[in-house]
Amino acid sequence: MRWSLCISGSPRRRKRIKKERLSSDIYYLRRMEEGDLFEVHAIERVSFPNPWHLSTFRGEIHNRPISTSYVIVHRLEKRIIGYIIYWHLQDEVQISNIAVHPDFRRMGIGESILKQVLAQLEEGGARLISLEVRPSNMAAIKLYNKLDFDILGIRKNYYHNPQEHAIVMGKFLSQ
Ligand SMILES: CC(C)(COP(=O)(O)OP(=O)(O)OC[C@H]1O[C@@H](n2cnc3c(N)ncnc32)[C@H](O)[C@@H]1OP(=O)(O)O)[C@@H](O)C(=O)NCCC(=O)NCCS
Repeated sequence: MRWSLCISGSPRRRKRIKKERLSSDIYYLRRMEEGDLFEVHAIERVSFPNPWHLSTFRGEIHNRPISTSYVIVHRLEKRIIGYIIYWHLQDEVQISNIAVHPDFRRMGIGESILKQVLAQLEEGGARLISLEVRPSNMAAIKLYNKLDFDILGIRKNYYHNPQEHAIVMGKFLSQ
């Protein structure tokens, strides 16, 4: 299928990548606070071609209970290495933003925190988790595929700079 990405490299190379996965003891999730915004926004700017404004993150922090914002904190380095934001609308949840600092990608962090959040949402009664992703964002699509998200549809010309459709992906949680 168009979206399934081949990971290039030999099995030995793939094994090496797996060995570099960071133990989940090294980082933890906590609620995003005002004092985190500059660090969060720095990660946002290096992660997206069309980044959110800092004020958008501030708005998310204050938009409780609809919006939930977490930062991923590196225990030893005492720095923020990523974040996840989602909106809760009754039993549906939309992941509106997720990013891991480039220095910490491919270490299993995105997968680990998404699994943690999905488990928490399932326990809280969420039925459907959805998100939008650029068709060109193969890293994210591979991650969502790995966690059994399916393609639910396409939103035409959803993104700009550069213009792209959005793939809507979702996962129904067992009740
Ligand atoms: C998408 C993103 C959050 C993934 O975070 P990450 O911590 O690097 O991902 P992980 O290391 O947990 O990878 C988990 C799985 O995702 C897939 N994946 C992640 N990055 C990948 C890449 N660059 N190429 C191919 N597959 C990739 C793989 O299936 C991987 O499993 P594997 O290690 O067993 O092969 C990160 O790349 C990022 O911050 N990107 C910029 C922001 C962004 O695009 N956010 C998503 C918007 S929809």
